[in-house]
Amino acid sequence: MRSWLKSTTIFRLLGRSSFGSVAFRSMDRLSGPARIMVVSDLDQTMVDHDDPENLSLLRLNALWEAHYRHDSLLVFSSGRSFVDYKKLREEKPLLTPDITIMSVGTEIAYGEDMLPDDDWEHFLNQKWDRNIVEEVSKLPYLQFQSETAQRPYKVSFKVEKEHAQEAITTLSTTLEKRGLDVKIVYSSGVDLDVLPRRAGKGQALAYVLKKLSCDGKAPLSVLVCGDSGNDADLFSVPDVYGVLVSNALEELIEWHAENAKENPKIIHATERCADGIVQAIRHFGLGISTSPRGVVAYAEWNKENENENFTPACEVVKFYSMYERWCRADIGDSESHIQDITGNLYPNGVIIYPWGVELSLCEAADALRQYYGGRKGKQFRVWIDRVSTAQIGSDTWLMRFNKWEFFEGKRQCCIVTALLQFRAEGPEAFIWVHLHQTWLDGTGNVEEGSWIF
Ligand code: GLC
Ligand code: MG
Repeated sequence: MRSWLKSTTIFRLLGRSSFGSVAFRSMDRLSGPARIMVVSDLDQTMVDHDDPENLSLLRLNALWEAHYRHDSLLVFSSGRSFVDYKKLREEKPLLTPDITIMSVGTEIAYGEDMLPDDDWEHFLNQKWDRNIVEEVSKLPYLQFQSETAQRPYKVSFKVEKEHAQEAITTLSTTLEKRGLDVKIVYSSGVDLDVLPRRAGKGQALAYVLKKLSCDGKAPLSVLVCGDSGNDADLFSVPDVYGVLVSNALEELIEWHAENAKENPKIIHATERCADGIVQAIRHFGLGISTSPRGVVAYAEWNKENENENFTPACEVVKFYSMYERWCRADIGDSESHIQDITGNLYPNGVIIYPWGVELSLCEAADALRQYYGGRKGKQFRVWIDRVSTAQIGSDTWLMRFNKWEFFEGKRQCCIVTALLQFRAEGPEAFIWVHLHQTWLDGTGNVEEGSWIF
């Protein structure tokens, strides 16, 4: 039997702490329960390491920012430590999650500033002593992982498959004899983590869900996503939807066959990584599953979305994904395409660039028209993160988001504030009236003329 956090234990924990703590409050974007909470592993689930272009991740990002960011929660749950997670963020176009569960569920942090949940770590400190784990692990077939992978409540090794079972049995018995109560997790046919019994990706998620529920904000649905052994724990959380991405490893597929085959809420996707997550959203009917990225004819797409789903956030995401494709020449140099991008700009509106220069939107649109294919054949990607929408008048919205550009190995980001106005006459649309950009700390350095929006 799995030792799920007993309600009494957790309520004691929550009482002692602080579901009102500064850390937890820091992700208080939503005033009510999340429509959906997506909890995803990173390596080979959210991030496809076999896809250098990151296309499936970028598709999911666009879908999330256009249709989910405003009322849903994004949670990353990874085996990586904070330091290793930061490295991944520098390499891949990851969105900013609301909650980050790291080091195989031994560390939880909230909000963009990643404020740690200290109570969770205190809670794990039971029948645990990492010195003893290190001491008894001096076995010929166990190799310590790097320093950055070792955490206060996680001791990690590498072990060949053929010695894995022996390692697990030996460690369990010796550690029990030494008075510890541990959980041993084997992933990717090589990683072996020793954690306190109370830890793990599933336990950490159950804790966060309890915390949200105490706050009257239990998500309406939860979708967990994973590919390897340490994710099995996620799929064991009661009542969640789950997706094993198509590229899930044997160990997780076996776990699924033995433990969850009959559970219709858990599927094995036919799509890889982030596309598998989107497939699950579609399969379970959890919401819109067509990413604005990849749509070619926007007029058609708007109709498909029946307009009511077309929000200012969609306009922002659509605009920048078209912008990327125009610069890359991924779409034809046609009037209808440039119109799709610039047709919603208010000609007398203004854009203020991060380097202080100001242009009318009409001039910026002309510059973009000239710039067709300016990034052709280059590594060039644009993505939007942290879209927030505030309605400030009957037909006016104040948008704020981070716009990232990746170009030939370098990334830059600016914080954009934009004013959008709804136009009811003619084809309904959100019109860009004003844009103001400032560099996100330390990322700005651009050749003027190539950064047009
Ligand atoms: C990540 C961590 C590693 C851990 C593995 C499996 O790769 O960096 O320390 O062993 O996940 O949980
Ligand atoms: Mg993984």
